[in-house]
Amino acid sequence: MKRSEVIWWSLSGLVTLVGCDNQQIAARDPQRQIASVSVLQSPPVERWYGPEQIERGNKFYQENCAECHKPDASGTANWREPDEKGSYPPPPLNGTAHTWHHPLPVLRRTVRIGGVPLGGTMPGFADKLNEQQIDDIFAWVQSHWSDEIYTIWHERNLQAGKRLTRHPNRPCSGLQACP
Ligand code: HEC
Repeated sequence: MKRSEVIWWSLSGLVTLVGCDNQQIAARDPQRQIASVSVLQSPPVERWYGPEQIERGNKFYQENCAECHKPDASGTANWREPDEKGSYPPPPLNGTAHTWHHPLPVLRRTVRIGGVPLGGTMPGFADKLNEQQIDDIFAWVQSHWSDEIYTIWHERNLQAGKRLTRHPNRPCSGLQACP
């Protein structure tokens, strides 16, 4: 992996772990507020998964993720508060925390490598789950998201896909990441 790639992925990972307060940024930036509102007013976009994928994902999720993120994906209520060792608890994945801020390639990578390389505690699942099973899990996870949250995530995922396509040296595995 090239140095620039390592930095890029580390940054994405850090954002995944530490969180990003876009609401605060939006509150300071009226242009972004307007952009968010116009997204909310458009009709909901079609989801990338169907009912069978959600059902498969539910099974893999309950077997691998539920012990920490809770069977209903509600995670830990005070997910922003680190414990005495500085570790963050498992956040909700149900659309109430910031999982929806991250494009699919970043979410997949979080599950593959876990949080340990970035100072977190989540184990990696690269040796237990294949790409299809990880996608099934995110189908189930995203089925908990409202149309508004999903629509905003979809837009961010598209933008991230365009960035990945512009930089062909970077890993290219998003839904819309490769032409
Ligand atoms: C042993 C507990 C544990 C298990 C099992 C676990 N996680 Fe996590 N997860 C965490 C913790 C803790 C974090 C916060 C970051 C860190 O410390 O690594 C996290 C963070 C995440 C994030 C980033 C969330 C965000 O809002 O950016 C995602 C996505 C995620 N987990 C998905 C999963 C999925 C999917 C599975 C099952 C395949 C899973 N996790 C299994 C503990 C766990």
